[in-house]
Amino acid sequence: MKPTTVAYVPSTHDSENDPRNEHIKIYVNGELVDKEDAKVSVYDSGFLLGDGVWEGLRLYKGKLAFLDEHLERLYESAYFLDIDIGVSRDEMKVILQQTLDANNMTDNVHVRLMVSRGKKTKPFQDPRLSIFGSTIVVIAEHSIINLETANNGVTLHTVPIVRGLPTTQDPKLNCHNKLNCITALNHALKAGANEALMLDPHGFVNTSNSCNFFIVRKGELWTSSGDYCMNGITRKKVIEICEEHGIPIKLKNYSLYETYSADEAFLTGTFAGQTPVTEIDGRQIGDGKAGPVLAKIKSLYKQRATSL
Ligand SMILES: Cc1ncc(COP(=O)(O)O)c(C=O)c1O
Repeated sequence: MKPTTVAYVPSTHDSENDPRNEHIKIYVNGELVDKEDAKVSVYDSGFLLGDGVWEGLRLYKGKLAFLDEHLERLYESAYFLDIDIGVSRDEMKVILQQTLDANNMTDNVHVRLMVSRGKKTKPFQDPRLSIFGSTIVVIAEHSIINLETANNGVTLHTVPIVRGLPTTQDPKLNCHNKLNCITALNHALKAGANEALMLDPHGFVNTSNSCNFFIVRKGELWTSSGDYCMNGITRKKVIEICEEHGIPIKLKNYSLYETYSADEAFLTGTFAGQTPVTEIDGRQIGDGKAGPVLAKIKSLYKQRATSL
């Protein structure tokens, strides 16, 4: 049996094609190498088992936005998994800067920082077989987000694949194993939507496969309680912005009932900031375009991401 191919539909992670990305230098375990030479071992625990953690960051006006918070999540995730990253947070900042400098990058850049448990002596699960130390890779790409998707928004399809419990694979872990999310996205793409809307194990609306999810009802923002979703940094910033600017925000359980009839809905993530959601399961949300509350949040978020 062969997988059925689906037509390409816009994604929340679309960016403008930039030919400079063919010639970037990538950081691999202490070296900055040409893209085509950037390789890790087939014995690497990230490749063999999805045994690693990562962060996606954005560089705006020479600064990696919310860097300390990203590093905190990375180091907490690694600690949870018993992965010794092998370098301190300050040393990691130097590694990130070296990668940006090697590529003369100062603005509109997306960085993928990956740390796996490292190469193993044998292709088996046991973490004790990773005796060579962690594998650290930094991919920094020129990345201007696709304005059409950012402005016109995306459609969601609610999928039967639910978010996991902390007792299975904690959904807060930003780990290399994203199969729960990928299965969800496959389902949504085959239904013709851009992204998957995922419920929690009780049937409440939780998150999308790659972004956090908010709705607006009668001037109030609602997002999930925070259980079962990624502890997104963009989500956190949106909540902070609401609290500081007197925009009513509730972290609560709600269902598709309240979601379909929301005035606005949007996704949040480091890559695109905020992306409007225009349709869910064939129901138009609000006016079917980006709304005024999102516009306000977007502008406040932009100021914050570029000023810190
Ligand atoms: C499932 C999921 N939700 C949300 C996010 C957004 O998190 P952040 O805002 O920190 O980029 C991510 C990012 O990796 C994710 O994988």
